[in-house]
Amino acid sequence: MNRPYYITTPIYYVNDVPHLGHAYTTIAADALARFHRSRGDDTYFLTGTDEHGQKIEEAATSRGKTPQGLADEVVERFRATWDTLSIRHDDFIRTTEDRHKRVVADMWRRIEAAGDIYLGRYDGWYCVSCEAYYAEGALEDDQSCPVHKRPAKWVSEPSYYFRMSRFQDALLDHFDKHPEFVQPESYRNEILSFIRSGLRDLSVSRTTFHWGVEVPGDREHVVYVWIDALTNYISALGGPGGAHYERYWPATCHLIGKDILRFHAVYWPCMLMSAGLPLPETIVAHGWWTVRGEKISKSMPATRVDPNLIASDIGADALRYFLLREVPLGLDGDFTYEALLGRYNADLANDLGNLLSRTLSMTVKFFGGEVPSARPELADAEPHAGLRRVAVDAVREAAEAMGAYAPSRALEAIWRLVRETNRYVDTAQPWKLAKDPERRAELEHTTHAYLEALFWSARMVAPAMPNKATEILAQLGLGDESIARAMASWPDVERAGRDLEAGLVVKKPAPLFPRIDDERAAELLDRWVPDDAKPPKV
Ligand code: MSP
Repeated sequence: MNRPYYITTPIYYVNDVPHLGHAYTTIAADALARFHRSRGDDTYFLTGTDEHGQKIEEAATSRGKTPQGLADEVVERFRATWDTLSIRHDDFIRTTEDRHKRVVADMWRRIEAAGDIYLGRYDGWYCVSCEAYYAEGALEDDQSCPVHKRPAKWVSEPSYYFRMSRFQDALLDHFDKHPEFVQPESYRNEILSFIRSGLRDLSVSRTTFHWGVEVPGDREHVVYVWIDALTNYISALGGPGGAHYERYWPATCHLIGKDILRFHAVYWPCMLMSAGLPLPETIVAHGWWTVRGEKISKSMPATRVDPNLIASDIGADALRYFLLREVPLGLDGDFTYEALLGRYNADLANDLGNLLSRTLSMTVKFFGGEVPSARPELADAEPHAGLRRVAVDAVREAAEAMGAYAPSRALEAIWRLVRETNRYVDTAQPWKLAKDPERRAELEHTTHAYLEALFWSARMVAPAMPNKATEILAQLGLGDESIARAMASWPDVERAGRDLEAGLVVKKPAPLFPRIDDERAAELLDRWVPDDAKPPKV
């Protein structure tokens, strides 16, 4: 039995409604969780919202709302978006919940009991957008933050400190012993050089606003929002000693954007070490999606991409597929609607959609809709054996890639199978075989092989496209229970040739991904691109 698989997303700030960047992390985590479930792993997938801190308090005030009121409103937008995008999380944590606040206080007391908290003063810069402290030298010349380009604030207040400097050697030692701790490698190196340049003690409480968790024993202070937020990964499990904690902690993977790597790969492990708790296995950082080269942000209309709108027009699965396939997880990528629609037509409508419709049509035409059996006597004959090798390789490669946090590579492997199967159909010309009664066995064998390739492809694309995978299986003639079973298991290469049951009756094919022609594309773009970001009409 494998170790349980616990994967998390960052908890998202509620000052902004969900956009493409948030959707990306959550979709990737969902696909990984679904993949692990299909491998039989005891899987737990957590997401949620980060609701405390100065940034939320200021956002609420500027809208004439209370912070709790704003959080209650925006959290619903996140929940609804995750529903629309077919996200299947096991829990959703909000940092304003009592179950969370209790564990934050517990974490504080543990760190304090270890002698790692002392009272001091913070006199320095703070960027509310990052919720981060900045040394003078790390700001731009005009004292604005390098990430948000907004002016940092000068803060001068009493503050508790966390003795993070004490953990520098232990953390370096951990990196040394666990090369997989931060992935990909380039980010690991970046963090290592940050740690080597010297860890300083960290200011961990604020006194000039109050929207947060009270510091135990000192009501004047609220816990620094990152200390509060990071604790969600264990508070959702009930905290140390909780049943879920015992079962799932340490996390297998914190999936995050590269913007918040330092908090996860430095602050969080130091906090855990001080509290005497085990560290997560891996922190996987992905790159940024940009729009026209700019990072997606609220203040730039041209970068606003609404995943809800896209999903409601072309389906959540098409968006999920595109995001996972287009850019390798660790790299940055520029989002364009043209690329999205291009892949939709090429990979989904042409490759996968076509494989479904032609194999089902063949089955209907040549076998009255009934799935024929593979013929053992032909198993080793070419070219059929070749297609089987392609299928077996795809199953192995896709699993390996998903296990290595490379969904893009996994989808490439699956598409090799989809495309090769289409190519085999083209060259084998079953409609000619069908005219020759002597070659009936060959026709049965090859049709089964195509259908099984489709059956396997459907199950392998299920983590990325759970709805379309279900549809393919239903069109293949599987009943609800068999569909559930097929979706909950990864193809077993040992069963090649007999995995798809003969005798199922396929449905008449219905288009899986209707092609989007130029006219429809123009219509969609008109709906998707906000008016203030449309190019001027000439
Ligand atoms: N609340 C903190 C995280 C606390 S975790 C203990 C936070 N929230 S956030 O709402 O700003 O979300 C940041 C995360 O959203 C990024 O780490 C990334 O996962 C995702 N993304 C936001 N914009 C993104 C892009 N433009 N591209 C890709 N992912 C992006 O930081």
